[in-house]
Amino acid sequence: MHAGSKELAEATRYLKAMRIQPQVGVVLGTGLGEEFVSRITDPVFVPYNSIPFFPVSTVSGHKGQFVFGEVAKKKVLVMQGRIHYYEGYDMQKVTFPIRVMNALGAKSLLVSNAAGNLNPSWKQGELMLIEDHIHAMPDGPLRGVGQLEKGIFFLDQSEPYSAAMNKVIKAVARAKKIRLREGVYVSNMGPALETKAEYRYLRMIGGDAVGMSTVPEVLMANYLGMKCAAISVLTNDASEEGNKPVSLNDVIDVASKSAKKLTELFIGLIKEL
Ligand code: HPA
Repeated sequence: MHAGSKELAEATRYLKAMRIQPQVGVVLGTGLGEEFVSRITDPVFVPYNSIPFFPVSTVSGHKGQFVFGEVAKKKVLVMQGRIHYYEGYDMQKVTFPIRVMNALGAKSLLVSNAAGNLNPSWKQGELMLIEDHIHAMPDGPLRGVGQLEKGIFFLDQSEPYSAAMNKVIKAVARAKKIRLREGVYVSNMGPALETKAEYRYLRMIGGDAVGMSTVPEVLMANYLGMKCAAISVLTNDASEEGNKPVSLNDVIDVASKSAKKLTELFIGLIKEL
């Protein structure tokens, strides 16, 4: 069952009582939690486990708290650590934080993640702006939800990532001389990484990067009418030539080294929102 309106109302009421009223929601992925948060003015930290009905992140590289404050004169609510499907949560729990951010007032959502690189011309440590995605997980957050709230309908997915926001991000990257690739993100269930054959297959179907998150959050945000932008940090080379063993620690290590560039891009975009 999807977390109903009672759970959403209670979590939202708890955060509203702390005067948390964001304009923008931000999700920080594996190894990406520290740098952006260090740039928030007057941060207020709210651990997920203090919020009614909120899921808790259980993976290392994810702190498990909301950070609320100001960036570029905008009120932002940041997930320092996300909730993944592979942790065992259902899709309603995975996307519950997005519904909470939206209920608190956030109209835009910026998402980041660590991902495997499938494009043989690109390198580990580079950033990729997600232009489009292929949802390859076995479940999604909207199953049954539309029926409860808006009646069944087919969610349009012709522009899951805002072209206007992407234009700004690309301009910021040019101005700051940050190399930014653009491509297609494939969301896999995890927590197993891919075999060599799976990486080859994902490249063949049109993927440039593969990860275990982001698409459920973007689907929910799209459903709620939020504008989305998302960036992957390519933490390991999964293209045919470069395919080597990968560990979570390697992913965290490479992601944290690229976190500064990601933060510049997000802050540059937030300024223009
Ligand atoms: N596959 C899936 N998810 C990932 C990877 C990968 O190679 N790297 C970081 N997250």
